[in-house]
Amino acid sequence: MSIRTHYCGELSAEHVGQTVTVAGWVDTRRVHSEHLAFVDVRDHTGVVQVVVDQKVDVRSEYVVAVTGLVRARPDGMINAELASGEIEIADTNVQILNEAEPPPFPMHDRNEVDENIRLRHRYVDLRRSKMQRNLRARAKVNSAIRGAMERQGFCEIETPMLIASTPEGARDFVVPSRLNPGDFYALPQSPQLFKQLTMVGGMDRYYQIARCLRDEDLRADRQFEFMQLDAEASFVDQEDVFEFISEAVADATEAVTGERPTDIPTMTWHEAQERFGSDKPDTRFGMELNDITDLFAETESNVFKTPVVKGIRMPGGADSLGRNAIDDLTDKAKRWGAKGLAWFRVRDEGLEGALTKFMSEAEISGVQERLEAESGDMVFLIADDRRVANKVLGLLRLELGKPPVNEGGFNFLWITDFPLFEAVVDGNPIPAHHPFTMPHADDIEMLTTATGDEWLDIRSQAYDLTLNGWELGSGSIRIFQRDVQAQIFELLGIGPDEQQAKFGFLLDAFRFGAPPHGGFAFGIDRLTALLVGEENIREVIAFPKTQSGSDPLTNAPSPIDPSQLDELGLRVVPRAD
Ligand code: AMO
Repeated sequence: MSIRTHYCGELSAEHVGQTVTVAGWVDTRRVHSEHLAFVDVRDHTGVVQVVVDQKVDVRSEYVVAVTGLVRARPDGMINAELASGEIEIADTNVQILNEAEPPPFPMHDRNEVDENIRLRHRYVDLRRSKMQRNLRARAKVNSAIRGAMERQGFCEIETPMLIASTPEGARDFVVPSRLNPGDFYALPQSPQLFKQLTMVGGMDRYYQIARCLRDEDLRADRQFEFMQLDAEASFVDQEDVFEFISEAVADATEAVTGERPTDIPTMTWHEAQERFGSDKPDTRFGMELNDITDLFAETESNVFKTPVVKGIRMPGGADSLGRNAIDDLTDKAKRWGAKGLAWFRVRDEGLEGALTKFMSEAEISGVQERLEAESGDMVFLIADDRRVANKVLGLLRLELGKPPVNEGGFNFLWITDFPLFEAVVDGNPIPAHHPFTMPHADDIEMLTTATGDEWLDIRSQAYDLTLNGWELGSGSIRIFQRDVQAQIFELLGIGPDEQQAKFGFLLDAFRFGAPPHGGFAFGIDRLTALLVGEENIREVIAFPKTQSGSDPLTNAPSPIDPSQLDELGLRVVPRAD
């Protein structure tokens, strides 16, 4: 039989008169005298006040079971902020189930505790209400998306963890093979190729809540290992994918926040770049980019004799931004690739700024008019080529206007028509998504004709889902014909031998009746973090790694026993760098 009869947080005035037993941790205690103390006992549902009138020495984080009588608190002692604030447990018998050393950090400190200390004692950290809330929200996300995928006819299939390398643009984690010394498995960067093979295998609709591993630099939104809702379906187009993924995302959002996002809008990659300078626009605020190149068609000023001039307006910025702040922004703009940052304060008399003396009257008034700038605003312009202008203004916009993570609602947005290639390096284009993405039907011709930067104009059937400026997920309609896939590999500089060695199994599969298919994967860590208003995905992962990739709790990574190395036929040698 359970030690407890009730959870702390469920007790309320309706239990007055009942004898109950709660069990949990000593949260706070207020000692009145040797024989009277008020102790808050905490479990994952909340706290309840316990009146201790026997002589027991309970300390912070002791594990206790308390049996007693629920009674109404005296007038004036009611705590309206607590679910159990109208009652307390009196006439108690307190049983100490386990003692505890003082916690390594204050349990109620509103200031952030050093993360290394938190992670070293994660089991204590998890007791804090924020972590309880976050992990339980995560469980709701998992459960909701599982329900949504099942309801929509998707079949859960587990794909292997020990695989041959699948390129997703990151470095692999590798596992040495004992049976084949010198050979290595890779851990999956995603189940990409296996899920495509399930389509060739006639599974029709696959999903998996999949663990993925990528050896990349860690950031607020990146861990070595993370979870995806990974899905693939046959005989579908992009709209079908949007529909079934939107359903899963909407269910998850509703499960955590109580509110269901309505239809998720779409925007082309090109429009997102032009209006927001980003492929993951944060549409919770305005400050959109304006193309005012035409104003400078006849300009005398060298600064503006560039392919493109674009600008943003910061409402109220003329007074809120001092000289130091502007210098700081100029430095940032240069670091992001701009030659400089043109800025103007807007006053009743018009634009004020060092560059006005090089501009014509028409240019000065034109800038103000086109950016709809009013007295008190600040205007920033970037004159450069289109890519630089968009990127720098996009970053500047975030710097100046991005709301805190937990404000402004949830602006989901589909971004469509991504370019097939993101750069050209040594004559070879680099895929923007991955090499299995189908080119846009209207641009297939260009695959044989493009040269130089024209590669970057070829569109693909790849799409992203973004939320408040974060990339939540990516997907595409896939190549399913062997010759098209081989052609793309060839363009990427992967010759026939390498194709056969690395992707022979995929090309082979395409010879045996591959259906048209497409799919998607979104990050569960990222979605959960945003839904609970956290800036860092570590806050929604039970046992994450630090920024430097270590685990202070278990000390991973750590050396292994020499005998293990022997068995694997491995020797550790100092690295060249
Ligand atoms: P992609 O590489 O874009 O696509 O990954 C999909 C989503 O996974 C999440 N994600 C991460 N989350 C935390 N830490 C990381 N290091 C990390 N890397 C990625 C992001 C990202 O949007 N196979 C394709 C999907 C497909 O084409 O169907 C893929 O993995 O939220």
